[in-house]
Amino acid sequence: MPVREMKVDDLPQVLEIQKALAFQDWNERQFCAEIAAGYALCVVYEDAAQFNTFNAPILGYAIFHLMGPDSELLSIATSAAHQRSGIGTALLDAGLSRLDFAGGDRIFLEVREGNAKARRFYEKHGFEPYAERKKYYADGENAILYQKTK
Ligand SMILES: CC(C)(COP(=O)(O)OP(=O)(O)OC[C@H]1O[C@@H](n2cnc3c(N)ncnc32)[C@H](O)[C@@H]1OP(=O)(O)O)[C@@H](O)C(=O)NCCC(=O)NCCS
Repeated sequence: MPVREMKVDDLPQVLEIQKALAFQDWNERQFCAEIAAGYALCVVYEDAAQFNTFNAPILGYAIFHLMGPDSELLSIATSAAHQRSGIGTALLDAGLSRLDFAGGDRIFLEVREGNAKARRFYEKHGFEPYAERKKYYADGENAILYQKTK
């Protein structure tokens, strides 16, 4: 599986993916803080043909806070040209496989109400909407809160 932990050296490519998708606006310092945080799992998906070779292109990334019953998916993205080929699923599984759902672990996330692609993706993977935050985003869009408990 061409998923590995994110390194600081990956950030130019990660920031490029984030910028092109324009779905979030984290700066390099925020990514560095996540990479350094003990409770965070930061992963990238490398082009399978070049996995673990020098300068293999990064096609997606995800950031989780793994805190057992209160884990969170903070960010997940696949570069536009490679979407719908299972990369998001592989990145998501890297985090979900660390959780013990039978033991009561849960994972939460929030997503823009109008982000149909991401909502379909989360629902396909067993996330259920449980609350709405009105006008949560700076542009006035609502956030939908999802959880996965099993
Ligand atoms: C959400 C996202 C990470 C999914 O990544 P992906 O690599 O395409 O995901 P996968 O190929 O593993 O999964 C595909 C599933 O996601 C959903 N999906 C992905 N693209 C979709 C689209 N264009 N239309 C409808 N559903 C879509 C579907 O459920 C699809 O399953 P299907 O092909 O059987 O219908 C990706 O769309 C993305 O990067 N979006 C922009 C960033 C973003 O909004 N991130 C989430 C908010 S933090």
